[in-house]
Amino acid sequence: MSFWTEKSKIVVTCAKGVTPFLKQEVLSLGFSVLSEGRAEVETEGTMTDTLRLNLSIRTGQRVLFLVDSFNVKTPDELYRRVSRIKWEDYIPEESYFSVTSSVHNPTIKDSRYPNVKCKDAVVDRIKDKRGRRPDTGPERDRAVIHLYWRGNLGQVYLDTSGEPLSKRGYRMIPLKAPMQETLAAAVVLATGWTGSGNFINPMCGSGTLAIEAALIGLGRAPGLLRSNFGFMHLKGFDESSWKALRRKARAEAKDRLDGRMIATDISPQAVEAAKKNAMTAGVERFVEFGVCDFSETPVPDQGGVVVLNPEYGDRMGEIGGLAGTYRGIGDFLKKKCHDYRGYIFTGNLDLAKKVGLRTKKRILFYNGPIECRLLEYDLYEGSRKGILQT
Ligand SMILES: C[S@@+](CC[C@H](N)C(=O)[O-])C[C@H]1O[C@@H](n2cnc3c(N)ncnc32)[C@H](O)[C@@H]1O
Repeated sequence: MSFWTEKSKIVVTCAKGVTPFLKQEVLSLGFSVLSEGRAEVETEGTMTDTLRLNLSIRTGQRVLFLVDSFNVKTPDELYRRVSRIKWEDYIPEESYFSVTSSVHNPTIKDSRYPNVKCKDAVVDRIKDKRGRRPDTGPERDRAVIHLYWRGNLGQVYLDTSGEPLSKRGYRMIPLKAPMQETLAAAVVLATGWTGSGNFINPMCGSGTLAIEAALIGLGRAPGLLRSNFGFMHLKGFDESSWKALRRKARAEAKDRLDGRMIATDISPQAVEAAKKNAMTAGVERFVEFGVCDFSETPVPDQGGVVVLNPEYGDRMGEIGGLAGTYRGIGDFLKKKCHDYRGYIFTGNLDLAKKVGLRTKKRILFYNGPIECRLLEYDLYEGSRKGILQT
């Protein structure tokens, strides 16, 4: 039996805080959820199932397929266990692979050491079976093996994503402080926006929130944008079933949205980049872009979602200057966005207090190491408070 049809544990990793949204995605794709952690959701399925996860998951980073699990105490023991795995069945001839690792073991001072041991075990096994060493290196654009080692538990996975899923491939022009695509998707899902009503995104920067919202609203699988995944570089990859999955996903996507999507930024360069990114993502005709101060962003009637991701500054001077911006955002939401659900994504709760609106909900996210909140505001008439509660 090929490893493509054997069932095993599948771990989908994500940024901290994103788990509830990832869990919902995994369930709605018809998978069971065996457990959830701070930054991952566990399910089960075959290698073939990982194609569907890689194609459709919006909020996950990597889809890991468990190959072997064992007790391990030392790097030498790790080498022995890893070299028992039939790598010649997984890694094609004339190929290249890389090893990533997540090692938390008090006896291991340098986590690169088990990584090298794991790589050596795979290389030596393949050389022994084929008489030829496979190529290896740090690039994750071909086969990727992932080592997980916690205490005495060692697990070896195939990283079926290869490059993290946040690299959708549409952000060609990087700007300052862009939000990761997978995080932006989680933020949009957290607002409850699914395509009906308007989606307004002042301070859009490189357009990540608007682009992810468009993909969500249209029901377009994010993996359609990418042409390379780790699973494509494993032995026995069936290109025809991958193409069939892509065709089905394309056929299921909508080609129109009911509401309007408006994304603006004060920086013409940002708007130019956002437009280009939207074009690469194939959603430019669904988003109306404009250069203006956030307060001048057109807000059509009929309501929907308005979401802003202002800078939150990491130096005192910057933070002082931003207080007025946050106050202005509060006025904008209050005065122009009555029929909307209003959201601010920020990593600075002191600045968020300047918004001066009652917070209805606070959702914890992490933007890299920075603890952030998605704050939802009550925008009905009269919610402006005397007492700040952010
Ligand atoms: C943190 S970035 C947004 C990043 C964005 N979410 C992304 O993924 O690229 C904040 C953006 O707010 C814009 N900005 C700052 N002050 C503004 C203002 N007064 N009106 C409109 N946009 C403003 C900046 O140009 C910047 O692009």
